Amino acid sequence: MQTLPGFREFYPEDCARRNYLFRAWRTVARRYGFQEYDGPTLEAAELYEKKNSGGEILQQLYQFEDRGGRRVALRPEMTPTLARMVADREKQYRKPMKWFSIGPFFRHERQQKGRLREFIQLNCDLLGDASTEADAETLALCIDLLRELGFGSGDIVLRLSDRRAWSAFLAQRGLAEDRAVDFLGIIDKLEREPEESLRQKLSDFGVTLEEVREFIASEGGGVFAGLLNDLSARGLRDYVEIDLSIVRGLAYYTGLVFEIFDRAKKFRAIAGGGRYDQLVASLSEGRSQLPALGFGMGDVVLMNLIEATPAALAKLEAGVKAESAAQVYGVVADETRRFEALGLFQSLRQAGWRVDFSLTPAKVGKQFQAAESSGASYAVLVGGEWPEVKIKHLATREEQLLPQETLADWLKTAQF
Ligand code: HAM
Repeated sequence: MQTLPGFREFYPEDCARRNYLFRAWRTVARRYGFQEYDGPTLEAAELYEKKNSGGEILQQLYQFEDRGGRRVALRPEMTPTLARMVADREKQYRKPMKWFSIGPFFRHERQQKGRLREFIQLNCDLLGDASTEADAETLALCIDLLRELGFGSGDIVLRLSDRRAWSAFLAQRGLAEDRAVDFLGIIDKLEREPEESLRQKLSDFGVTLEEVREFIASEGGGVFAGLLNDLSARGLRDYVEIDLSIVRGLAYYTGLVFEIFDRAKKFRAIAGGGRYDQLVASLSEGRSQLPALGFGMGDVVLMNLIEATPAALAKLEAGVKAESAAQVYGVVADETRRFEALGLFQSLRQAGWRVDFSLTPAKVGKQFQAAESSGASYAVLVGGEWPEVKIKHLATREEQLLPQETLADWLKTAQF
């Protein structure tokens, strides 16, 4: 039997890669003062209805009736859960609140490259601060998460936009605010939809494709200046471009919106987010008013891009090795010394080293082969020289004899 389409299994080497990614995400999020939280994977389906998530997600919901007759859904995104959690307890937390979370999400997507039905997202959100500086802090984090993984400004680009620019565009043409959602739906498909049907749809709003293109070319006429200056001061300006064609598919965004792509445009978005200043209020029936913004970054496209980017891949492989490969491999060259060897290997583990060895007798040559494939840097040979042991650097083949009780200390200063 196979896995369901769009669902994955993680063999140990896949888990090692995933853990590397999670570690990088956690490290950078914490550098920015973000704290980790989590929520349930199963929610009431109504949490994602029109006024909250809305958009495509509604059609992709894994929803069913549970045994108690409740209409439930596997979470397709984090933001509504976060907004509800925050609405309940925000008074207990100092503002701005900077929260992040890593976990699985579910969307019944069409089969396509970069899209699965179960995927992992890092969500980072900053709540209780409506300033441009808060916007900049969030964008800087989003970029830095990717820099940590080995990407430079030649590899990735953050495309910046603002839904309010389009509201102004519509207002100028005398179009009602409540038509904005449908209009933004057309802009969202600008690059994917055939020109003829685009023109047709825009004509319902009395707008031409040329007007839309001209407006996009205006790049918002300076409304992003403050934000861009802040990012320049942080040395991150090269990662950002203004692109008003980004409007995002979710219903709750109220202002700034953005997506990160690979420059080569080989893949879909790596991350996406924006400002949602009304969602907390709407989920708390107005009891709590909290401006917020944030983004979600998925693991699927990101891993594809790491694999396609040599510098990022080298960093991942080094990271995986540093974190999960054995460091020391014990070789029992004289079986009559097995118990002494076990005592030594155990003491090295106690000292914190990752130690592996053959559990049953094997030829020394075989044990060295196993040492090589374990990824260990050193082999420790327990044999006739006991209580001295031979330590061998597997890459250079250099070896030396050491009293066994000094080995743990010696390793502390050794090269790995
Ligand atoms: P989103 O754009 O729907 O935003 O998802 C963010 C990222 O999650 C995408 O850019 C993509 O990398 C990844 N992703 C989404 N769907 C899939 C899928 N089916 N397979 C693989 N990866 C996927 C949100 O979810 C917002 N809640 C983000 C947010 C947080 N906005 C504010 N705070």
